[in-house]
Amino acid sequence: MTRLGVLVSGQGSNLRALYAAIQAGRVPATVALVGADREAPALTWAREQGLATFLADARALGRAAFEESLGRALDAAQVEALVLAGFLRVLSPALVARYPDRILNVHPSLLPAFPGLDAIGQALAHGVRVTGVTVHLVSAELDAGPIVLQEPVAVDPAEGRAAVEARVHAVEHRLLPEAVRLLCEGRIRTRGRIVDIVEG
Ligand code: GRF
Repeated sequence: MTRLGVLVSGQGSNLRALYAAIQAGRVPATVALVGADREAPALTWAREQGLATFLADARALGRAAFEESLGRALDAAQVEALVLAGFLRVLSPALVARYPDRILNVHPSLLPAFPGLDAIGQALAHGVRVTGVTVHLVSAELDAGPIVLQEPVAVDPAEGRAAVEARVHAVEHRLLPEAVRLLCEGRIRTRGRIVDIVEG
């Protein structure tokens, strides 16, 4: 069982989907710590489940002090791999280096298109007919690490944002647990920025 640290900033739907997959026995992991940089519904939900949680206000503390206390909490919880599930901060190169090829992020676009905040809004404003979901390994650069899984989502310009968002999120909730499973099973290998998924 891989001991996961899951970092969140928002609603926590990806955290809930991952936790459900773990509880159902589809991902050989345990959620050792849920960490947040702000109060968030995701954190409230984690507390309700009785999960160990960490909260520090990254804006008030600054990145260095935030990551120092986060690092201590991750060590105390013996976290072996990190999952960024709607975590709205960029980790420092030093923290990323502590978990080589063991940090996953889910992003609501087909990277490298539309990195950064509000990727769905960016895609709709650009008028794309296809967007999607990317799960990638985290490097020190924003939304730029090696791609593990990707899946397209069709966009009909006649439909509203809510419909596109719902389809993107449904894909996220399937793809993130799948990628975490591959990581926990030791099946993700990197060659530079290329990811090979080896047979289990
Ligand atoms: C997701 O769309 C994720 O890809 C993005 O932020 C959103 C978080 O949603 N980075 P939730 O907090 O998991 O519900």
